[in-house]
Amino acid sequence: MTLELWTAVDQYITETVVAEDHILRAATEAGVAAGLPQISVTPSQGKLLYLLARVQGARAILEIGTLVGYSTIWLARAVGPNGRVITLESEAAHAAVARDNVARAGLEETVDIRVGKALDTLPGLVAAAPFDLVFIDADKESNPQYFEWAMRLAKPGSLIIIDNVVRDGTVIDAASTDPRVLGVRRLNMLIAAERRVSATTIQTVGSKGYDGFTVARVNDD
Ligand code: SAH
Ligand code: DHB
Ligand code: MG
Repeated sequence: MTLELWTAVDQYITETVVAEDHILRAATEAGVAAGLPQISVTPSQGKLLYLLARVQGARAILEIGTLVGYSTIWLARAVGPNGRVITLESEAAHAAVARDNVARAGLEETVDIRVGKALDTLPGLVAAAPFDLVFIDADKESNPQYFEWAMRLAKPGSLIIIDNVVRDGTVIDAASTDPRVLGVRRLNMLIAAERRVSATTIQTVGSKGYDGFTVARVNDD
């Protein structure tokens, strides 16, 4: 089992069931052309975000970590014309590419890109809360704070989804000093102690290697 095989199968899944369209492909290509890191969610993961948002009936979504707006477009397509996606990005150059991509997708009325470090912009979102879904996908060392903010900005029944929580299995290394691993492990301690959510983590393989995502639902009972 190799990255090569996972990538080939991912491509096959993308071409068959996912049906990624030319607008999403153009969004990825714009990021490549701008020399930005190619760390967006994969097409199959983006489609899962879209489906989870649809199942949720989400109208208000918060995303932390925009990059080129690839996951943003999937989420914005799920909320419909009366919905809203607020997405937080610290790098102005990333936000500029994302703004173009969102415009090409015809979603500029739906998507609100806020530039700045998320820990600085999150306090300004209290008035826009509650969000039906929060997608956490920025600097991994801040995952614990982002989860705490997500809890503050959510409501009973909301979903909180966190990307990159397995990291080639390094998540189980209790001796790790990697701040990204520590961020995920501290996040998991918060989730374990948090009686207000019900959560699971799914390990994934694909064109981005071996990783995983966590889904937590805020209890309503
Ligand atoms: N969600 C995107 C990928 C995001 S990559 C997708 O799947 O399509 C992570 C992004 O988080 C990068 O663009 C990075 O610049 C941004 N980021 C890193 N630290 C941040 C911070 N403190 N606040 C906001 N954004 C941050
Ligand atoms: C990285 C960040 C991501 O959000 C991701 O999905 C993959 C890799 C990174 O910072 O390396
Ligand atoms: Mg990610």
